[in-house]
Amino acid sequence: MTDAQTSSEQALTDRGSNRSQRPSSQAFRAFIADGWGPRPDGLPERSPAADFAAARRDAVGRLFPGERLVVPAGQLVTRNNDNDYRFRPHSAFAHLTGLGTDQEPDAVLVLHPLDAAAEGPTHEAVLYFRPRAGRDTEEFYADSRYGELWVGVRPSLEEVAAQTGLRTEHIDALADALAKDAGQVQLRVVPSSDAAVEAQVAAVREQAGLAASAAEADAGLAEALSELRLRKDDYEIGQMREAVAATARGFEDIVRNLPRAIEHPRGERVIEGVFGARAREEGNGLGYETIAAAGNHANTLHWINNDGQVRPGQLVLVDAGVEVDSLYTADVTRTLPVDGVFTEPQRRVYLAVLEAADASFARAGQPGVKFRDLHAEAMEVLATRLAEWGMLPGTAEESLAPEGQYHRRWMVHGTSHHLGLDVHDCALARREMYLDAELQPGMVFTIEPGLYFREDDLKVPEELRGIAVRIEDDILVREDGSVENLSAALPRTPEEIEAWMAGLRG
Ligand code: GLY
Ligand code: MN
Ligand code: MN
Repeated sequence: MTDAQTSSEQALTDRGSNRSQRPSSQAFRAFIADGWGPRPDGLPERSPAADFAAARRDAVGRLFPGERLVVPAGQLVTRNNDNDYRFRPHSAFAHLTGLGTDQEPDAVLVLHPLDAAAEGPTHEAVLYFRPRAGRDTEEFYADSRYGELWVGVRPSLEEVAAQTGLRTEHIDALADALAKDAGQVQLRVVPSSDAAVEAQVAAVREQAGLAASAAEADAGLAEALSELRLRKDDYEIGQMREAVAATARGFEDIVRNLPRAIEHPRGERVIEGVFGARAREEGNGLGYETIAAAGNHANTLHWINNDGQVRPGQLVLVDAGVEVDSLYTADVTRTLPVDGVFTEPQRRVYLAVLEAADASFARAGQPGVKFRDLHAEAMEVLATRLAEWGMLPGTAEESLAPEGQYHRRWMVHGTSHHLGLDVHDCALARREMYLDAELQPGMVFTIEPGLYFREDDLKVPEELRGIAVRIEDDILVREDGSVENLSAALPRTPEEIEAWMAGLRG
């Protein structure tokens, strides 16, 4: 046999085992299965999210009576070869189970329809997942994705049931559960959540002759789950407060470390790293990739390379958010003078953006205001200032008209988005529920105007070129319709920022 033949006979998918020297004798298997102490007694406490998640499931169930709703957590995602990314469940799954960090790869929440004629709940919720295997299994010591000796002790069915209040079943029972009453029960699965589960659902539909309307049915579920998150309950608001508080501590860390960032050839990475450390110490991690952009880099809206220098005299724009263990994230931007003091042109741009943010916030607290008005309010301020600076081809009014919009050259992004489990939360909601909807108690959203003057923009006065400013805060609509700036603990005015930085840097 030639080498060429040898290499073609072993499937590529089996090659990973070529480096393995794992023992496989019966004696070894018996030896490793034996001699372990007992598992700890007792069950975990019921999660503080459990009752809130139950109410959210009831709300979804009422929208789809008589239908089977399938909400996967998702699969582990390969980073490269046999390395996975850290697991994060799909946000819809987290919302409806109350589960957060690391829980639980391949799990699937199913809302099974109950008898339509009966009083009471419309569905029974069952959580299917792969519980930890016994120490007498190969998984225990040989499975690098799920095995106890590789990824730690994963939970049992009883433990997750106690934690969530859900009925739990082994994932092996899922296929039969999905096929139950096929043909009589409409199935909906969250799209783009778990390809394997979606394929299982598709097969059941195919057999039952329900395939024709499948995409529409799934889109309807995704939309409903997105809209369910537009108003946060008390548990979620508490988690948002924690995420913002941890984020504020991360910004303090950044200021303390600015001297080190200035010394470093990639000072932006120092800032990114300092904030990332706080996010991992206090929460699950980052809610999104940190933007640490010094000087002209801040004119690139999604500057996440963060490989530049941080120099005295520049501004540094930091857009960063801690995602707490329940997976709720903050989304905050502060634009700081690297050496602690704004120059006059920097201050001028900063004050225009601050004025826009404040105007938008003031509007948010007025009765009957629509989400889209937040942006309009900020744009009015920015257009006015840009006209004063002689940068617009006409008046502010002409620019604000739909056929003008010249001011948007210097702020091409939106002013606000909903915030929660996803940094851009509720993204599949209908326009009439999002942009065109009135603000409602429990909504949490950002206000984040900015001005971005690229260094090669010849329509910008020379002394303003290379300056970019964004101020981003996280806003809650309270029960009485008033608004609260959740991130107000982080200073916003130039004077407050300068005093805060001086205090932190001693
Ligand atoms: N950090 C993403 C955003 O501000 O929308
Ligand atoms: Mn944002
Ligand atoms: Mn942001």
